[in-house]
Amino acid sequence: MQPSNKILITGGTGLIGQELSRKLLHKGYEVSVLSRNKKTDAGIKTYHWDLLNNEIEKEAIETADYIIHLAGANIADKRWTEKRKQVIVDSRVKTAELLYNKVKKSKSRPKAFISASAVNYYGTLTSDRIFNEEDPPAGDFLGETCRKWEQAAKRFEESGVRTVIIRTGIVLSGKGGALAKMLKPVRLGLGAPIGSGRQYMPWIHIDDLCNIYIKAIEDKKMKGAFNAVAPEHTTNKEFMKTLARVHNKPFLAPNVPAAVMKILLGEMAGLLLKGSRISSHKIRSAGYKFLYPGLESALAQQTEKNIM
Ligand SMILES: NC(=O)c1ccc[n+]([C@@H]2O[C@H](COP(=O)([O-])OP(=O)(O)OC[C@H]3O[C@@H](n4cnc5c(N)ncnc54)[C@H](OP(=O)(O)O)[C@@H]3O)[C@@H](O)[C@H]2O)c1
Repeated sequence: MQPSNKILITGGTGLIGQELSRKLLHKGYEVSVLSRNKKTDAGIKTYHWDLLNNEIEKEAIETADYIIHLAGANIADKRWTEKRKQVIVDSRVKTAELLYNKVKKSKSRPKAFISASAVNYYGTLTSDRIFNEEDPPAGDFLGETCRKWEQAAKRFEESGVRTVIIRTGIVLSGKGGALAKMLKPVRLGLGAPIGSGRQYMPWIHIDDLCNIYIKAIEDKKMKGAFNAVAPEHTTNKEFMKTLARVHNKPFLAPNVPAAVMKILLGEMAGLLLKGSRISSHKIRSAGYKFLYPGLESALAQQTEKNIM
């Protein structure tokens, strides 16, 4: 039985938050969620926050031993207009600042603040270079977003709270997210590389990602940024080909031209057309052993469980 530490998860209603909550409850933790909508879920208390009015239910902060900050407007849901970009930044940065300000006023301090970030911190650059945690942030929109997001999280560090930042790759889950979107054409027998297909796609199985968050709670030596990506480096072409094979579908279609993606998605297309290689060395050196280090087994597990 694990100590009954109380974990507060912002954005805990999302893809990662729901799975992480399930695993934490299974391990004996008490989980509560901070959401813009007040609703109750079996076993999980939902607290409300109102970002426009800078409000968080007081009890949420006072009872939290650990805060995990996952909240953020989905980057792939809508076209990146200037307005949408601001929502993407504010929903991560202003929320982290609001949490910090409320913690500062509270009598209690969390034992750790653990924040999501993304491997987009390093920018999207198709090359053989392997980026690690020492590399600087990129100057593109998502690189800047991650820099501001991490800077807001680091205010906790400056006030003496252990702070861990999880720079996450594309999360593979049978319950939604990027994999569900990529699977649609594959199921129709239209699996194809996007653009040149040579761009890297740093990915991680959702079970590994949740285990890394749990390690960040339990391993007091963990501090600072960690890349959360599988050790295997996969190009877009290899990814799409493996996905088609695992689903017994053909991989015949010609590459989807970059120009089509740009027309369909605008600036967001860069996310799919370019991609960097990211190192998993630091998290492995911290003692984390991946359940799914390779893509084939990661995708096969989702089909075996019949959740895709
Ligand atoms: N999934 C991935 O492949 C991936 C990869 C890299 C990084 N990440 C990062 O990991 C975090 C969690 O990812 P996820 O896939 O679980 O995301 P998700 O399914 O889109 O859920 C994010 C949650 O954030 C909250 N949220 C959405 N818009 C918001 C807004 N405008 N203001 C405040 N809160 C808002 C929502 O909770 P309520 O509606 O309950 O408020 C939502 O359930 C995100 O910050 C994401 O950028 C994810």
